[in-house]
Amino acid sequence: MIIYRAVQTALLAGFFLKSGECLASNGSTALIGDEDMQTPFPEWLKEFTNITQWPGLDPPYIPLDYIDLTKVPEFERYQSGRCPNISREQCSFDCYNCVDVDDVTSCFKLSQTFDDGPTPATETLLENLRHRTTFFVLGINTVSFPHIYESVVERGHLVGTHTWSHAFLPSLSNEEIVAQIEWSIWAMNATGKHFPKYFRPPYGAIDNRVRAIVKQFGLTVVLWDHDTFDWKLITNDKLRTEEQIFKDIETWKSQRKGLILEHDGARRTVDLAIKINKLVGNDQLTVAECIGDTDYIERYD
Ligand SMILES: *[C@@H]1O[C@H](CO)[C@@H](O)[C@H](O)[C@H]1NC(C)=O
Ligand SMILES: *[C@@H]1O[C@H](CO)[C@@H](O)[C@H](O)[C@H]1NC(C)=O
Ligand SMILES: *[C@@H]1O[C@H](CO)[C@@H](O)[C@H](O)[C@H]1NC(C)=O
Ligand SMILES: *[C@@H]1O[C@H](CO)[C@@H](O)[C@H](O)[C@H]1NC(C)=O
Ligand SMILES: [Zn+2]
Repeated sequence: MIIYRAVQTALLAGFFLKSGECLASNGSTALIGDEDMQTPFPEWLKEFTNITQWPGLDPPYIPLDYIDLTKVPEFERYQSGRCPNISREQCSFDCYNCVDVDDVTSCFKLSQTFDDGPTPATETLLENLRHRTTFFVLGINTVSFPHIYESVVERGHLVGTHTWSHAFLPSLSNEEIVAQIEWSIWAMNATGKHFPKYFRPPYGAIDNRVRAIVKQFGLTVVLWDHDTFDWKLITNDKLRTEEQIFKDIETWKSQRKGLILEHDGARRTVDLAIKINKLVGNDQLTVAECIGDTDYIERYD
């Protein structure tokens, strides 16, 4: 029996965003599972962090020799939805839909993608998928639900990082951004023995300062061009209906291409995802297949 408590994050923030993504059950995103079932804290990580257990929502910054923060451009930090003071050169996706040439935003075949897992709801999705897909996971959920993460990988799906605890990265210091990325990568390596290649920013919140840091990790930024706003189904005021979402899916199907943003953080959005899957069909690709690139930067077994 998995006992888990939902951790409230700065989350209803999604309401401020036009291309906002958000999440889970009642406005929570990161889940902390039963500690006894966690991914064990690995010896190799103890050695160079001097830390002996997985951190909470604010992971500590550990300097890395391949990350040079002096090369990161200086741009103003901003909170969710505080866009007016943001310069255009900052290239914020959440503020201005600005994308960098290296960002992946679409796919030549219409394909679903899933953020915020792994959670117990992910298992239901796995049982219903008949093709490979892409999951952007939270580190804190990865170490809390390692067996669900392993099922995702065993079934051949692609896994990318979505930070450690769903932080709004542009509001953080460079060091805090590094911490969010490095701990998510260590969680994935400790659980799945691989170093991810793809990164999706929570809330789509990314500017050129955040990009400069994630690129130093070798990560490719993945955004989307079709947002289901599925999380609005589970807000109290039910800002969106399934019918509205299915109508959008029909439009996207007629265009035949694109990356669809969905969430496997809650049972409600997973049930919707299964219905969307029936509409879109099984001729879908992973993000790596969309751009003809490798699944991971490194595999360790
Ligand atoms: C949100 O869900 C968690 C876990 O199911 C529950 O403990 C908590 O009371 C809920 N909070 C609200 C405000 O409904
Ligand atoms: C870990 O501890 C060792 C020995 O005290 C020290 O040399 C090293 O700098 C520490 N590493 C970190 C990341 O704090
Ligand atoms: C942001 O913009 C507002 C209005 O343009 C201005 O009053 C405020 O001082 C600015 N804040 C910062 C931090 O630049
Ligand atoms: C990944 O895990 C392996 C052990 O499985 C370890 O040797 C390696 O240093 C880790 N790499 C990173 C980047 O964490
Ligand atoms: Zn998310």
